[in-house]
Amino acid sequence: MLEDRPIVFRPPSLEDGAAIHRVVQRTGVLDVNSCYLYLLLSEEFADTCVVAEEAGQLLGFVTGVRLPRRPDSIFLWQVGVDPQAQGLGLGKRLLRAFLESPGAESARALETTISPSNAASQALFQAIARERGAQITVSPYFREDHFPAGHEAEEHYHIAPIR
Ligand SMILES: CC(C)(COP(=O)(O)OP(=O)(O)OC[C@H]1O[C@@H](n2cnc3c(N)ncnc32)[C@H](O)[C@@H]1OP(=O)(O)O)[C@@H](O)C(=O)NCCC(=O)NCCS
Repeated sequence: MLEDRPIVFRPPSLEDGAAIHRVVQRTGVLDVNSCYLYLLLSEEFADTCVVAEEAGQLLGFVTGVRLPRRPDSIFLWQVGVDPQAQGLGLGKRLLRAFLESPGAESARALETTISPSNAASQALFQAIARERGAQITVSPYFREDHFPAGHEAEEHYHIAPIR
């Protein structure tokens, strides 16, 4: 049981950037950005990011930002759980911690993008919306042809109210 394990949820520090990058690679699903980006997020955007750590090992993370054009929203950029810890409820706990993070304070809506084939991610956001009695609005966002070949479309999810 995950509840019995000593997992700590906390904002990342600079020392976590490379480990987040590794978890992103290990998911085999997420877009792998440069390690530089994860270092920058960990150092400068820590208020809107969360990591889950057990005995010094990074098991999962969420990265996010506040949206300059929609100050009511918190945007979740990526969420990833290491394959060995998936399906145990860690994704849900990470999202809860993310919505309670200092940078998410005052946000009324959660926004993110999800590919139509990503059933696990869709189920995760549906579960969080259900928990909070929030409504999900899905609309087209990045089309496949916006990307270089080989990348699925990304649909926009708007989930509100989150508190
Ligand atoms: C998406 C991801 C973060 C979910 O984390 P997780 O710890 O495995 O998810 P949880 O165990 O907290 O489960 C959350 C919900 O999703 C459901 N779920 C989990 N894995 C699933 C799967 N493979 N297919 C369908 N539903 C799934 C669970 O049943 C649960 O729903 P419920 O509360 O209604 O029962 C994780 O699978 C992952 O890292 N995937 C690869 C990266 C990725 O796709 N990130 C999202 C990109 S937007």
